Amino acid sequence: MKKTKQIEENAKVVNKYLNSKLKGNPKKLYDAAGHLIVNGGKRLRPYMVIKSCQILKGKIPNAMPAASAVEMVHNFTLVHDDIMDNDEMRHGVPTVHKKFGIPIAILAGDVLFSKAFQVISDTKLSTSSTTQLISRLAKACVDVCEGQLLDIKMAEEKKIPSQAEYITMIGKKTAALFDVSCAMGAICATNKASDISNLSSFGRNLGIAFQITDDLIGVMGDPKITKKPVGNDLREGKKSLPILMAIKLANGNDKKIILKAFGNSKVSKKDLSKAVDVIRSLGIEENVRNQALNYAKKAKKSLSKYSGSAKVELIALLDFVVQRSV
Ligand code: IPE
Ligand code: IPE
Ligand code: MG
Ligand code: MG
Repeated sequence: MKKTKQIEENAKVVNKYLNSKLKGNPKKLYDAAGHLIVNGGKRLRPYMVIKSCQILKGKIPNAMPAASAVEMVHNFTLVHDDIMDNDEMRHGVPTVHKKFGIPIAILAGDVLFSKAFQVISDTKLSTSSTTQLISRLAKACVDVCEGQLLDIKMAEEKKIPSQAEYITMIGKKTAALFDVSCAMGAICATNKASDISNLSSFGRNLGIAFQITDDLIGVMGDPKITKKPVGNDLREGKKSLPILMAIKLANGNDKKIILKAFGNSKVSKKDLSKAVDVIRSLGIEENVRNQALNYAKKAKKSLSKYSGSAKVELIALLDFVVQRSV
């Protein structure tokens, strides 16, 4: 499924705003900070900020700083994540640390992180709303760090985590940012706690559905579409839902082939691709997509009391998230 026209149109507006904020000297630092942004990205989180503001009848310009800030934080996490995950390609280009080296990549991430908070303070909202934005975004960043540590820890351990542990991990490393995107959009429109909480829970459940689908794409997506290699999660020993399911389901030689690649940093390209083929043949896709769908349904419920075009667009985003192949 393709992105909707609205997501694309919104991305153009956000890009302009982002580009204007990511300039400076030394130029190399800003080139590194903007590297993934200029080469791709869906801008889903800023879209959620803006639509969450609109669904509550807020004005788009009020949400622009928060929308850009969350995309900066997102890119900060991607730059550092690619270092942690030993990933060499994203958006069809070398990752920031591959292109600029690890020290500059760390700094580029730090610049994105810091600028995000600087940009938020451009918000023309009441002091109390601005403080809420800063506090919530900071809390989400802490959650992402905790989730990323859980991800690494689970990959290092032999133990196979339960599904609940997997959901806790992705809830922090991924859904926290989707959650805060919607909460911030809501705060840009209102200070009514129940509205902020409804949008926050929409974002959280959408985020979980997003990561489950992403994990599926990570083992059986088409690299030509995703613009990132397939099988890296397997090589890194990541305890993603599709990998856990595959290990459980596979027998005999199939299981041997998967386990030969799983968590084996020295696995050959051939053996990794063999393992990916075995996982593809197990027929787990429908089951994984259904689990994502369950979270999408929960997300939809949080919007039941709203109406209007922004609601329609948020629901369309939900459909994109669970059906996507990119
Ligand atoms: C990638 O997110 C990181 C995850 C949380 C899985 P996106 O797919 O939204 O990243 P973009 O679109 O490349 O920026
Ligand atoms: C997603 O990480 C979460 C963050 C980047 C914080 P993953 O490692 O699962 O995502 P990809 O596959 O690198 O995009
Ligand atoms: Mg990771
Ligand atoms: Mg990664």
